[in-house]
Amino acid sequence: LDKISIGMLGLGTVGSGVVKVIRDHQDKLVHGVGCAVQIKRILVQDLEKERDVEVDRSIITAISAEIIDDPTIDVIVEVMGGIEETRKLLLRALENKKHIVTANKDLMALHGPELLETASKNGCDLFYEASVAGGIPILRSVVDGFASDRIHKIIGIVNGTTNYILTKMSDEGKSYLEALKEAQDLGYAEADPEADVEGIDAARKMAILSTLGFSMNVGLGDVRFKGISRVSQEDIEYGKQLGYTMKLIGAAEREGDRIDVTVQPALISDSHPLAAVKNENNAVYVYGDAVGETMFYGPGAGSLPTATAVVSDLAGVMRNMRLGVNGHSAVFPQFPKKLKTTDEVFKKYFLRLVVEDEVGTLAEVTSLFSQEGISVEKIWQNPKRGSISEIVLVTHKASQKNFEDILVKLNDSRVVKRVGSSYRIEI
Ligand SMILES: NC(=O)c1ccc[n+]([C@@H]2O[C@H](COP(=O)([O-])OP(=O)(O)OC[C@H]3O[C@@H](n4cnc5c(N)ncnc54)[C@H](OP(=O)(O)O)[C@@H]3O)[C@@H](O)[C@H]2O)c1
Repeated sequence: LDKISIGMLGLGTVGSGVVKVIRDHQDKLVHGVGCAVQIKRILVQDLEKERDVEVDRSIITAISAEIIDDPTIDVIVEVMGGIEETRKLLLRALENKKHIVTANKDLMALHGPELLETASKNGCDLFYEASVAGGIPILRSVVDGFASDRIHKIIGIVNGTTNYILTKMSDEGKSYLEALKEAQDLGYAEADPEADVEGIDAARKMAILSTLGFSMNVGLGDVRFKGISRVSQEDIEYGKQLGYTMKLIGAAEREGDRIDVTVQPALISDSHPLAAVKNENNAVYVYGDAVGETMFYGPGAGSLPTATAVVSDLAGVMRNMRLGVNGHSAVFPQFPKKLKTTDEVFKKYFLRLVVEDEVGTLAEVTSLFSQEGISVEKIWQNPKRGSISEIVLVTHKASQKNFEDILVKLNDSRVVKRVGSSYRIEI
């Protein structure tokens, strides 16, 4: 085996990067893996479109069967995105005994188990390193690097778009909408930003990470998630005054055999390294029982960073082909999934309450907290902003259930006009 043939699905941002990386690193691939890569065909939608990379027009096609059913193609590199149509194409490719490398987190979070099983049945590899945190080799690290350890926590910033927006709001005082517009102009945010700003993209990545990290089948429906579209400038400012930075945090934690996986805007201590992860960068902390704390940092997206992850997976497939061991790399979940209930999750919280400006308000609020058994670490009644009077407080650790109960009580209380905002204090 001195050359393998690949068929690519997609020649957009990531696809163009893959073509460049294969071209520029061909020698390294030959040296490291022992064979060269030939891009045999590339599927696109629009045959006439200008491309970001020079490609022989004769290998571009709009007919998927010319790739999926071509017996001379060994590996499919899926960088087109999409869910249902892509799922069908990949299942057919696997039945045709083609290995797959994909960057598609939407697909893997939803149909990962089915695709991995089909791959394994057909003796094929299915690798998806690029689907989480782009250029950071986090999936391989979680699976291989921690093979001898037991992971109990994975926490991080896994969406570059929202991190860019929050950085601009925090460092430059921009409003959410201004920062979002800037992210869109720079190409970090899609025209329809919902999946990013509402936390869905990050939730998919946390589902993939916790499936691998905890060896349980964690789906998108198991992740409680919330986005950043309601984070206000005042919350960020209050956080700063208290020594915290606002980030969209993905957190997956295990205690015993039970796990909790969330994505939400949360406050983290300014002194924690995650607070220094700015703009479109990603960072993931993995805690192992034996190793302690490890941090992975880097570009979470972008053409070349994501493409390097794709081509590294390709190198893995090639190595397996040379050794004749394809189809054995997938690690299937070992444990049944058990999710924590809300009375088993303990965190500190930040709260901003819009209250009546009258004597006794503070006492009434603190008494509600003590009735719920939640102790308050810091509380302060803000000088009025215009006609609005606010109370800002930080709790000690409380169960999520107690915290949800107190939110209801506060909303019902005569002295509280509304709960302005509430956030977990994650670290
Ligand atoms: N962009 C990133 O930084 C990044 C990072 C990590 C993971 N990913 C993942 O990588 C995948 C690709 O992302 P991208 O940003 O490269 O997307 P993109 O720029 O929109 O490119 C998609 C490519 O796929 C082709 N395509 C889409 N649907 C098709 C269909 N039904 N039939 C044939 N061709 C089709 C498009 O063809 P035309 O060019 O003709 O329209 C285009 O070349 C996605 O799953 C994404 O989630 C992206």
